[in-house]
Amino acid sequence: HKHLIDITEYSADDIMLILETAKRFKEVNERRIKQVPTLKGMTIVNMFNEPSTRTRSSFEIAEKRLSANSLNFGGSSTSAVKGESLTDTVETLCSYKIDMIIVRDKHAGVPRKIADVSGVHVIDAGDGKHQHPTQALLDLYSIWETKGDFNGLKVGVVGDIGHSRVCGSLIPALKIMGCEVTVIAPPTLMPARPDVLGADHVTSNLDEALPDLDVVYMLRIQRERLEGAPFPSLREYNLLYGLTQEREHLMKDDAIICHPGPINRGVELDSYMADHPNRSVILDQVYAGILTRMAALYLLLGGSEDGIVA
Ligand code: CP
Repeated sequence: HKHLIDITEYSADDIMLILETAKRFKEVNERRIKQVPTLKGMTIVNMFNEPSTRTRSSFEIAEKRLSANSLNFGGSSTSAVKGESLTDTVETLCSYKIDMIIVRDKHAGVPRKIADVSGVHVIDAGDGKHQHPTQALLDLYSIWETKGDFNGLKVGVVGDIGHSRVCGSLIPALKIMGCEVTVIAPPTLMPARPDVLGADHVTSNLDEALPDLDVVYMLRIQRERLEGAPFPSLREYNLLYGLTQEREHLMKDDAIICHPGPINRGVELDSYMADHPNRSVILDQVYAGILTRMAALYLLLGGSEDGIVA
């Protein structure tokens, strides 16, 4: 592959190769090798036009661990605020003979447009409500590491489905890997056509769905994308759809909890569940973000085999 923009362009074998490569990088990290020369001389532009903590920092750390040169660029500090077009911006960056652009943008479709005009490798780091493919890869890594296998695994994706680009990549990725996916959301946070999500089941009843699930994937309520007053109210949402200590008895003994971050504590997750020592893999997901992004950079940029273990 040249780009990582649409996870549906990746097969189960492609995804397993990324996860296996990420596992090898974990082994390297655990040998306390802080940096490998794999991408020495490559230049990667991190173009973040929307806020980010995890994605931005983990890409930057992944690039440094692979010895690539990073340029952090984007948002209100660029000449886009003076009206420079996306195409002119990208052509300017490409004049520096860069190798890759990683882009986050509030508009769906920007990564594809950059791929069309730039000729360099592009990774989508989250575009509008469309996709967030590296999030799906790190989620799959954490699920694989904890559960060992995807086949027939019952995964529930709960919450603000309508605004979620995480869903746009995660649900197809889970299906590609053979999981059974249930989407759980209040009707007001469900997309108009939930059938296009590609899930096996769609429901608005969390309490009925929970006892079947091996993985409970809680989504963030995207307050910044809710127009006007949120309905249901955040308190009502927490009562009906929050994964709270009171709901733990409905979960399988070995069911795990995932969340892409950032968490609205007290809304979709209470702190008891977010920090649950046996169930929550949320910080493992964050660590997997570095490993899977190292793997994606390595595989897309054709790093040398020696470089992975040097
Ligand atoms: N999960 C995720 O994309 O987090 P950030 O917005 O902090 O990057």
